[in-house]
Amino acid sequence: MKATARASANIALAKYWGKRGCPGNYPAVPSLSVTLTQLTTQTTVEFIDRLPRDEFVLNNVLRSDRARDRVGHLLDEVRARMLRPLYARVTSTNTFPTASGLASSASGFAALSAAATKAAELSWSNERISDLARRASASAARSIYGGYVLLRAGPEFGTKDELSATPVFSATHLPLVVFVCVVTDREKEIGSTAAMLRTQEMSPYYHSWIEHAERTCRQIQAAIEQRDLEHLAELVESNTLAMHASALSVGILYATEVSARIVEVVRRLRACGTMAFFTMDAGPHVKVFVRPEDATKVCLELERVEGVLRVTKAAISDVSIRWESDL
Ligand code: ADP
Ligand code: DP6
Repeated sequence: MKATARASANIALAKYWGKRGCPGNYPAVPSLSVTLTQLTTQTTVEFIDRLPRDEFVLNNVLRSDRARDRVGHLLDEVRARMLRPLYARVTSTNTFPTASGLASSASGFAALSAAATKAAELSWSNERISDLARRASASAARSIYGGYVLLRAGPEFGTKDELSATPVFSATHLPLVVFVCVVTDREKEIGSTAAMLRTQEMSPYYHSWIEHAERTCRQIQAAIEQRDLEHLAELVESNTLAMHASALSVGILYATEVSARIVEVVRRLRACGTMAFFTMDAGPHVKVFVRPEDATKVCLELERVEGVLRVTKAAISDVSIRWESDL
């Protein structure tokens, strides 16, 4: 009753930000992401006889806080389907900063969902594993799949329906290089869940965000389908800035002066004819998308930005979940 899985983080081109009012962690808006090669989580789950409660070790530290409770809640859903429910020992490592705006919850809960269902000997489909991951952290539903991945918004009213992500294009349909410009290794002060809940409760712009997000997600999918990078660049930047504006309106500022400097460099590159565009999540790091042929030149520019700790080069991965036998 032990299994190990590795999952890749994903970066949203169209952001999920806001939840439906009903229980079950359904997103209020559709989102579309790419699964990355370089940022991964590896998780081992072992269900053990007579263990008095779940244990969770994250990056070599035994956790007894909300991080452990979130893992425990996901395991409760798995245990509810086990003939002989047991507590589990969970060990997980992220290859990149945790809780910092680089989607550790996405790869973390995707790897946990895959490993836990396998350790419990449940032969679940990817759709069902994606739904399980979404209930823990909605962005994690997308990390079950590779390539370009869509997660629809949840239903308006309460329901127990499954909602899983769907792969929509392969990486080869529109191959892009992603530079993750890491600005800090520190954890953020306010996590994504709390920040989006505060935005939806208090922001005067929340309803405009919802309309904008529904429209731009559709347009982003169409621009990817048509391989229209100019339009895609405008839409992705507009989507991320609208998300950050809604958070800013309730006092949450994730970007720093270093983030702003990176954005300036991306704008300058584009004005000078190099296709590059940025997106930012709930943290100060900036992710820059470029054509593979422009990667070397853009990387040098990004590494030169004052305050950037390091630039991690990633590609879009067509596979996310890997099992112990493949590692
Ligand atoms: P991020 O931008 O890194 O996704 P979030 O605030 O969305 O930040 O989520 C961070 C939370 O995700 C952590 O506080 C922890 O609860 C959970 N998390 C991160 N890594 C893992 C992991 N490997 N396994 C399980 N949970 C994880
Ligand atoms: C800004 O998936 O971490 O990265 O469902 O509450 O766990 P919960 O939120 P989470 O939020 C991700 C927010 C985002 C945008 C995105 O990845 O789509």
